[in-house]
Amino acid sequence: MDLEQFDALRTPEGSAALDAAARVAGGDPLTAAAALRSAGVPAGLAAAALTQAELRRRAAGKFGPAARGMFLTRAGLEQATRGVVARRRAERLRAAGVATLADLGCGLGADALAAARAGIRVYGVEADPLTAAMAAANAQAAGLADLFTVECGDATAFDVTRVGGVFCDPARRKAGTGRRIFDPNAYSPPWDFVTGLAERVPHTVVKVAPGLDHALIPAGAEAEWVSVDGDLVEAALWCGALAGVPRRATLLREKDGPLVNASGRAGAPFYQLTGSGDAEAPVGRPRRFLYDPDPAVVRAHLVAELAGVLDATLADPSIAYLYGDEARPTPFARCLEITDVLPFSLKRLRALLRERRVGRAEILKRGSALEPEKLRRDLKLAGSEAASLVLTRVAGAPTVLVCRPLPA
Ligand SMILES: C[S@@+](CC[C@H](N)C(=O)[O-])C[C@H]1O[C@@H](n2cnc3c(N)ncnc32)[C@H](O)[C@@H]1O
Repeated sequence: MDLEQFDALRTPEGSAALDAAARVAGGDPLTAAAALRSAGVPAGLAAAALTQAELRRRAAGKFGPAARGMFLTRAGLEQATRGVVARRRAERLRAAGVATLADLGCGLGADALAAARAGIRVYGVEADPLTAAMAAANAQAAGLADLFTVECGDATAFDVTRVGGVFCDPARRKAGTGRRIFDPNAYSPPWDFVTGLAERVPHTVVKVAPGLDHALIPAGAEAEWVSVDGDLVEAALWCGALAGVPRRATLLREKDGPLVNASGRAGAPFYQLTGSGDAEAPVGRPRRFLYDPDPAVVRAHLVAELAGVLDATLADPSIAYLYGDEARPTPFARCLEITDVLPFSLKRLRALLRERRVGRAEILKRGSALEPEKLRRDLKLAGSEAASLVLTRVAGAPTVLVCRPLPA
């Protein structure tokens, strides 16, 4: 889509085409295009409207019902922050007293819209003209145009003395190819500029890839890892006055709560674990229960803190499975009951599973080079029972734990 096609979508004719596209999207694309054309929609406008309708359908998973009125590009949607994560961050910024915020590289505006919904005045800057125009349209569609304004330009030139806080979510994909960028120095705006913001603005937050190397965390900053329903989605650096603790894991449970509650506010529950990020958990033998920590806890290096909460131990100092004598309910880890601990041997494992009539097995692994799907084929499972198999190491030795899942 280009700016001209986008402008056409913003006319009354374009708006009618979008409504018609929403009614037919999701089915066969040729039938949908034919339906729009037979309703008198010109071919170019029909194609643009159908693309939007398709992107809006996909965006519903990220933004909930708000996706229905948004303008989207494929690349912008892929890079946008999930609604539930953006909302949580916006609430924290508001609670810290941030009343004006620059969003440097605001994309389609997912973070900026959440901040505006939390009552923060947001100045978005976006280098790509079409994305900037869509972000402004998204502000208007959400009824937030007086709280979130967008200028098209280079974020590095923005005068940050105008605002009380800065948020930056640098592009981590190559423009044009969409390929992921793993080297922070190749981010846009560049990493030096992004991390230098903290020295210029007392309230700075930077969104980063969840794979961020801890060595890159600026001194004094809080690094937060966020998961949604068990999937690790992002990390953020909270700098200056916003830094509360060295490391934080935030677990959002979207599936446990409505995305938007009856009064239009966020409803997803969340759990947080904090700590230094450099503590070490005690190491012992495997015990009766195994805890598989949430990926946000693991990436935040908070396994030792979780071990303290659960009175648990590791069985190998470099592997993030915890073991305890009791199954303590926790949102921070999944708990399995261990029935057998075997040094890894395909023959012995196959014999044991046959004896137990295990026909279905989930296979988890940490610290094992085995390929779960190949192992599953090699096991030739048959029977009516289910088991969880955990491939790991115990004191350095390849080990398989046969487990029974506990009710969540
Ligand atoms: C990861 S996206 C932001 C997504 C946004 N936080 C959201 O959730 O919708 C980064 C954006 O920064 C923009 N960008 C990259 N370098 C920029 C620069 N120097 N000035 C302004 N915008 C820039 C890109 O065009 C891209 O749209």
